[in-house]
Parts: sequence; C-alpha cells; structure tokens
Amino acid sequence: MHRITLIPGDGIGPEVASSVVRIIEAAGVEVQWETHFAGAQALEKFGETLPQDLLDSILRNKVALKGPITTPVGKGFTSVNVGLRKALDLYANLRPVRALPNVPCRYPELDLIVVRENTESLYAGLEHIVVPGVVESLKIITEKASTRIARFAFEHARKESRKKVTAAHKANIMKLSDGLFLDCFRRVSLDYPDIIADDKIVDNACMQLVMRPEQFDILLLENLYGDIVSDLCAGLVGGLGLVPGANIGEKGAVFEAVHGSAPDIAGQGIANPTALLQSGIMMLRYIGERDAADKIETAMLAVFTEGKVRTRDIGGTAKTAEFADAIIQKMNQ
Ligand code: NAI
Repeated sequence: MHRITLIPGDGIGPEVASSVVRIIEAAGVEVQWETHFAGAQALEKFGETLPQDLLDSILRNKVALKGPITTPVGKGFTSVNVGLRKALDLYANLRPVRALPNVPCRYPELDLIVVRENTESLYAGLEHIVVPGVVESLKIITEKASTRIARFAFEHARKESRKKVTAAHKANIMKLSDGLFLDCFRRVSLDYPDIIADDKIVDNACMQLVMRPEQFDILLLENLYGDIVSDLCAGLVGGLGLVPGANIGEKGAVFEAVHGSAPDIAGQGIANPTALLQSGIMMLRYIGERDAADKIETAMLAVFTEGKVRTRDIGGTAKTAEFADAIIQKMNQ
C-alpha cells in the first residue's frame, strides 16, 4: 500500500484529479491518498496557502500528485507552486515532451526532455522598490544549485538512454550569472564522456526549437528560461493540456499538471485529464509501480490511437469522466 499526498487544486483540478485517481486505482495500485488543500482554499480554511500539515504529509510520503493552483496576478499571495518547490527543495523540474497519437500538433515525432533548475534565478523572488518608479529584481545563480541540476540532467540522460544534453543560457550577456551556470554544466559534463554536452544561447535555442526541434534530446535551463521554454516545447506537441511534469528533490517529488486551473471551463466536467494522468504515470514509475504505469500508458495510447473518445480541447466531445472510463475499459480488455 502506497501513501501518496493528493492536492486536487483549484478550478478543473479536482475534476482531472478524480479521473486520474480512478484510473490509477483501476490499474490495481493500492494507494492511501492523503488529500490536502493549497492556495486560496487553504487560505480560507486554515489562514495560510501552504499549510504545514500539507508539507509534513509530502515529507512523510515522499511523493505527491498535484492539480493546478490559481495564483493571483500582480497582487495577493505568492505562488504556491514556487513556495512548494522552495519549501521542499524540489530542485529539478522535469518535463518530457512527446506527441500523442492522433493529436494535431506541429511535431508528431518529437521526443525531448526539458530539465529546469527549480529553486533560484529570478524566481528567488528577491524584488524591492529602490525608489518610487524603480524596482530591482535579483537573479541568484549559485555553483551548488547549477552543479546539482547539471548532474541531475546527465544522470537522467543515462537512466533514459539519451545521447545529448544541451544547456541553454545567456552567458554572452549575463557573463557572471549565466556564465557560472554554464561553467558548472561544462565541469559536470566531464564526468559523463558517454553523453554529448552541447550549449546554445537561449534565444537561438528557441528559434532552433521551432525550426528543427529534433536536434535536441535533453535540454537544461535555469529557472526562468526553463519556465518559458518548457511551455514553448509543450506547444510543439499539442499544448499544456497534454504534457506531464515533475518536481524532484532529495526530500521527495511532486508530480503535477503543468497547465493552470482553467477557470473558463471549470465545473463543466470537460477538462482533459491527460496532463495529470501522464504525470501520474511518471509518479508510478518513480515509486516502483512500473507494470501499472505501463498498463495505463498502453491503454491511454490505445484510446488516443483509436481517436473515438476525445475531450473538447483536442476536437472531441467526450467529458473528462468518459475519457477516464475509456482508458479503464481498455485496461480491462
Ligand atoms: P490555464 O492553463 O488555466 O488555461 C489556458 C487555456 O487552456 C484555457 O483556455 C483553458 O481552458 C485551457 N486548458 C488548460 N488546461 C486544460 C485542460 N486540462 N483541458 C482542457 N483545456 C485546458 O492558464 P491561465 O488561464 O493562464 O491560468 C489560470 C490560473 O491557473 C491562473 O490563476 C494561474 O496562475 C494558474 N496556473 C497554475 C499553474 C499550476 O498550478 N501549475 C500553472 C499555470 C497557471
């Protein structure tokens, strides 16, 4: 029996989470889910957006599945996602980018992995008003975090039998900060002679991603570039409603839907649960449930290949629960 922390989240979060829970249980994985609120719901109930009970639950279970959390723009509380990564030191963000059968997209053959440093850069949130009309935002890059994420990328390359890691940076302009990130990458790469280490300036990398994405295998970026480029990569294979994501550290891992809470369609039961399901599949592999993960993935791919049961965002009419039912039915065939 696995104990897993479940954060259904806001908006479409609970809708997609309940479908994913149903599919995981139908695959025969025995899970005791510890359900927790975060963000606005937690603020209302407990007076804080990231309750200690939730953090303790993840620290105890070492693994969590998380739906999207609404973050107020420009005001209000700070991002729960960023807070969670900081509090648990989930330093590596991992996003496999792969097209699904029958889903219209620009690069159906694409298969790359984005590794993003998750704890520093401009996301350290160190902003202040210098004088009225002038704000300063500090970009923090450390040798420790840059070395550890580079090592994670190369280790992941080995684990997944990947051939190349490309670091994208702006060390031509930010010679000290991105320069340090690049130096650490190059130093770590020497320990992995079996894997090609390449680097590109991030603006060029973006153009190359749009024009010839197949040249990339694993892409390594600091926090802000990683945030932007990983969404760009999701767009290459059909969008945020489809790709999975994980935040991994020494203390545990949080597998998440990378899309937002989609307030425009929340409550209608029409959201696509694929992104969270794919994160759930990654999670099952992480906790050693490889057979169940393969079983769900095979069934999910079969449903996509048949193309009969599709949610609205990819041109179908199926409800969230109907899509989940189709996958469960396939698993039972
Ligand atoms: P969003 O991802 O929620 O929505 C963008 C568009 O994609 C909408 O038209 C939505 O209907 C559609 N969409 C997203 N996920 C879908 C799914 N699974 N199935 C079908 N359609 C889907 O992005 P938006 O509107 O910028 O953000 C809404 C809220 O979500 C904001 O408060 C934002 O801060 C939060 N957010 C949270 C994230 C997280 O918790 N990881 C990530 C991104 C945004």
